[in-house]
Parts: sequence; C-alpha cells; structure tokens
Amino acid sequence: MAQLKGVETDRWPSRVTLMDVGPRDGLQNESYFLPTEKKIQLIEQLVGAGVREIQAVSFVSPKAVPQMADAAEVMAGIERRDGVRYCALVPNERGYDRALASEVTDIALVLSATETMNRKNLNMSVSDSMAIAQKLLARAKEDGLTVRVDVSVAFVCAFEGVVNAASVATQTNALFDFGADQVCLCDTTGRADPRQVASLFSIVSEKHAGEKLFAHFHNTYGGALANTVAAMQQGVAAFDTSIGGLGGCPYSPGASGNVSTEDVVSMLHRMGVTTTIDLERLCDVSDFVKSFSGSVPESAYYRATRS
Ligand code: COA
Ligand code: ZN
Repeated sequence: MAQLKGVETDRWPSRVTLMDVGPRDGLQNESYFLPTEKKIQLIEQLVGAGVREIQAVSFVSPKAVPQMADAAEVMAGIERRDGVRYCALVPNERGYDRALASEVTDIALVLSATETMNRKNLNMSVSDSMAIAQKLLARAKEDGLTVRVDVSVAFVCAFEGVVNAASVATQTNALFDFGADQVCLCDTTGRADPRQVASLFSIVSEKHAGEKLFAHFHNTYGGALANTVAAMQQGVAAFDTSIGGLGGCPYSPGASGNVSTEDVVSMLHRMGVTTTIDLERLCDVSDFVKSFSGSVPESAYYRATRS
C-alpha cells in the first residue's frame, strides 16, 4: 500500500487514553436537566466500564450553562476511586476557586483559538483568556493541580472559518510555556478534515510529545473517526469522546456531539490498539443514556449491536 505523503506510521500509538466528556460537554447541551443523582450514576457507570479519565463537571456560570449548576453536588456525590482522573472544566478564577473548594485535583482550563468564539463563549478577548490561563497555571502549580488547557475551535470556527495552524501552534507553545501539563486541540464545530488534523498535529508534535497532547473531535460532518486516525498517525494518544455521542456546543451553531466513546473504542480495539475500557459494559452505559435522554445514542456501534 502506498505510503501517504507526510504520514509517519511509526508514531502510531499501541495504547490510547480516552477521556469521556459526556457528563460535561455532552450533558451541557441537552435540553433537559439531568438530576444530580443520575449524573453521579452516569460517572460511576463509566468508571465501572473501565473509563479512567472523565470530564465530570464544569464550574461555569449557572446562568450561562444551567445544566452544570450542580457541579459541586456532583463532585461531592461521586466516590473518588484511585487511578481515575475526575476532571472539571474551569473558565475563570471564580471557577478555579469553586473547583478547589470541591477538592478537585484535575482541571481543564478553556479558551478559544479565535477572537469571535472566545467572546461568544467566555465574553472576553483571547489575550485576556491567555492572561487568566497564565495566572491560574501558576496558582495550580502551588496548589498541586494537574491542568489541561482546552483550545476550542482549533480547526474551523463557526464565525471565522478555517483557523491558521501556525497561530494555533504558537498559542499551544505559549500554554506549555505557562506550565500546562497537557493541551487539548478541539474541533468544536466538527468541521475539521483529516488532512488539516494531520497538518496541525504534525507541527505541534515537533515540540511536544504525544502524551502531552489531547484531541477532541465532534462528529458534525461525520469525520471524527477519520480525524482520530489522522491524529494518531502524528503520535497523539489521548482523545476526548462522549458516551452515546452526547453533546454539541451552545456557542457553535450547528455543531453536533462529540464522537461516541463506543465508536472510538470499537475502532481502536479492532485495530489492535488497547484501552482500559470494556466495550460491552460501555454499551450498558449507553443503555442508561438512552433511558434518560429518550433517544437512541448517536453511536454507529451501539445502533448496529443494540438497536
Ligand atoms: N461560576 C459561577 N458563577 C460565575 C462564574 C463561575 N465560574 N463566573 C462568573 N460567574 C457569575 C458571576 O458571579 C456573575 O453572577 P451575577 O450576575 O449573579 O452577579 C455572573 O456569572 C457574570 O459574571 P461575569 O464575571 O460578568 O462573567 P460574564 O457574564 O462575562 O461570563 C463566563 C463569563 C465565562 C463566566 C460565562 O460566560 C460562562 O460561564 N460561560 C460558560 C462557557 C462554557 O461553559 N462553555 C462551554 C464549554 S467550552
Ligand atoms: Zn466539545
């Protein structure tokens, strides 16, 4: 088979980490409010299926995202198990203080690659968000927290179109210089194509090892699995996925949910790439998602095997 130009297959990871963002990125976009008890059950069930990284809540303004208003209660209600990373998304210092009060040890700061998206999502300029990230990364070092920084619309912005890869790489380098443990490049709109993904990660991974990089793909245009493979070919070994494909983005019109955890696990396992996750138990969790969402999960694997 002809080698794709620019694709280094020797960087392919043999093991991949998945962070399930369904309880946060997924639920924040659902029209119903999932009661705290069910949010806790969802997180516990994901852990039971072998998921070891979960974006459990966000400490954002409850006016902006009512679904996450009970973040403190959710964090208080889950049993924190050894070896499981319970991550909380934090947009500003207020959110950071709330996360600390909930004894969170792992946070994801969030900012955007484009000015328009940052203003719509966070009501401030990118440079103000970068300054907040720098300040909070310094505080997190003192407080002993692990910090990932999520760069939303790193590929295509709903308002500004295709995003320049060199400027995302510069932003990523600055975030690592500020002390980020990991940076997650997010296709928030779900419009990235595999070539663009390969191109951005090939630039970023020149300076930063695969384990410091995360990728986050929404499946709006159906490209998320192809984008996952394109990123893996550049050495990326950690991805955000969402149980049952839950989600969307309230600030990116038309964006659909994250790629489903079931579809990524199914593809990886068939490719001989290992994860910590038991696929059939994961589908039991999707049954639970179906029971509270009232619709069949957006997952090709789930639909093929359980519907
Ligand atoms: N947690 C709880 N409340 C918060 C908060 C936080 N992290 N940050 C701000 N607030 C409250 C303020 O106390 C204030 O409340 P009040 O109106 O009762 O006085 C209100 O929110 C507005 O605060 P302000 O500092 O003026 O923020 P803002 O209106 O400019 O909003 C954000 C900025 C970032 C707080 C808000 O847009 C937000 O939370 N967005 C969420 C974005 C998100 O989750 N996106 C999806 C994930 S990428
Ligand atoms: Zn997302």
